[in-house]
Amino acid sequence: MTRRQLAATAAAAFPAAILTEAALAQRAAVPGAVPAGTVFLNANENPEGPPQEAIEAMIKILPGSGRYHYQEYKEFYATVAQSEAMDPEQLLIGSGSSEVLQAAVHAFTSPTRPLVQVYPTYESVAAVVEALNRKVVRVPLTAAHTADVKALVELSGRENAGLIYLCNPNNPTSTVTPKKDIEWLVANLPGDTVLLLDEAYIHFAETPEMESAFKYVKAGKNVVVTRSYSKIWGMAGLRAGASYARPDLTKRMEPFRNNVISIVAVRALLGGLAAAGRILPARRARYNGVRRGLCEWLAAKGAKHIDPHANFMMIDMGRDARPLLPRMISRGVAPGRHFPPMTNFMRVSIGTAADMEKFKRVFWEVYQG
Ligand SMILES: Cc1ncc(COP(=O)(O)O)c(C=O)c1O
Repeated sequence: MTRRQLAATAAAAFPAAILTEAALAQRAAVPGAVPAGTVFLNANENPEGPPQEAIEAMIKILPGSGRYHYQEYKEFYATVAQSEAMDPEQLLIGSGSSEVLQAAVHAFTSPTRPLVQVYPTYESVAAVVEALNRKVVRVPLTAAHTADVKALVELSGRENAGLIYLCNPNNPTSTVTPKKDIEWLVANLPGDTVLLLDEAYIHFAETPEMESAFKYVKAGKNVVVTRSYSKIWGMAGLRAGASYARPDLTKRMEPFRNNVISIVAVRALLGGLAAAGRILPARRARYNGVRRGLCEWLAAKGAKHIDPHANFMMIDMGRDARPLLPRMISRGVAPGRHFPPMTNFMRVSIGTAADMEKFKRVFWEVYQG
């Protein structure tokens, strides 16, 4: 890639103030802002909610939530790490993966060490970097909506990046950056730049191109991998997430994390993890079945979409999608916000089969209208 191409890449247009996902989801939830009974397909949540085992464990601990229960955390961390075949020294638990992502920003970026990330992607990491008055360099996705790993490496070297953020599968495109590209990226990381791989949606990806980056953590690379309990686990409101990294990297992130997570979330996780072998495959099969059904329906209707690998997908509306979003909301279906520069696309989270029936009806009215 030439210097000119790189400069054009880095300067790809994006609005200065993109509202983060969380801010938009909160706005959509304002009472009176949407019709009663609105189906929320805007925040990639799992309408199935916490597993029954997690609910029962939470009910039991509620009367005991007057205490911190600090003495339980060592074993809790060991159980969580073991559930991913990782070591407790590699693990950092946060209030949602948001907290560990934020800890990585504090630990690895600085006024002289920018963030380099793909674009468009989940914007919360960049929002923290920019709030700290630190630089963010955005690298557009490839034509296949995957990470341009060559450009990420070149720009990171040139900018002396402290951190590269890559979401795999990527939000909002629901695409997977192939394992060969991730391998190349890890092998070519410049200097001490840390690669932050956000795998919040990994459980929904069935393509052989999706490979967890845990193996690079185990191999001692400069890689931090995050996981969320908000997505397939259906515990978004409980706020639990995790990162795994070489113990020295985890140690650098740890001071930026807030204390322990809620004991209610701890017990929910322990309840769920004990039955993970049954819960996760069943959930994956159910959600991916609904997703496949929607893809087939869209294809039959002649509506283009990007092949999805997570619990949400991008539909090409064939024109500027922005005016269409309020029309969907006024009919009781709330899709995701628009994601510049993909202004012709609408992102929709996969809900229950009933949610998606309502979505199809409303979508078709608006798409045709
Ligand atoms: C890619 C990605 N990472 C992280 C998060 C944050 O999730 P949580 O803090 O609930 O784990 C989200 C939320 O939508 C997301 O889409």
